[in-house]
Amino acid sequence: MEMTLLQIRWNHKMFETIQYSGSREKDYELVIKQLDILLEGESNQIANLSNAAALLNHFLNDINWVGFYLTDENKQANNELVLGPFQGLPACIRIPFGKGVCGTAAETRLTQVVPNVHEFPGHIACDSASNSEIVIPLVINNDVYGVLDIDSPSLDRFDDVDKQYLEKFCNILIKHLQ
Ligand code: SME
Repeated sequence: MEMTLLQIRWNHKMFETIQYSGSREKDYELVIKQLDILLEGESNQIANLSNAAALLNHFLNDINWVGFYLTDENKQANNELVLGPFQGLPACIRIPFGKGVCGTAAETRLTQVVPNVHEFPGHIACDSASNSEIVIPLVINNDVYGVLDIDSPSLDRFDDVDKQYLEKFCNILIKHLQ
């Protein structure tokens, strides 16, 4: 599998695309470090979520949507997700906790790996090209801040390696959201 990866030029934080052919684990470790460097010193949450989505969109192959749904702080019960920064086609805006893959991840606080979205009860279809999905909850100070959602046009696109490293990616992201 051929991957492209963003390489950070250290002197002025410019980016260039390089070919990368290491192991998936090493690729993930590198992109997690790049996230940490990219977000360092910036506290604006929209900026950091936007760059995290863009970095993943560039890094991951075989995906058609990557982005965030965030817990809507304006809802008294705090039980609804609203669309956040993303890359991909325009998407549905609001998802109640417990609904679809994103709402299930938010409610259970557990990563959802869905090999075939058409078999997931209550799956919310935003892009008809999507066939598999992974959703990682973002929990900050024991509150569900939101979720990271990634869709693929391929069935069974996401495995345990993706789960393990995307959870690590989210842990670094969370550090830059507080
Ligand atoms: N499929 C998601 C909805 C969001 S879109 O995939 C961008 C779900 O079932 O929660």
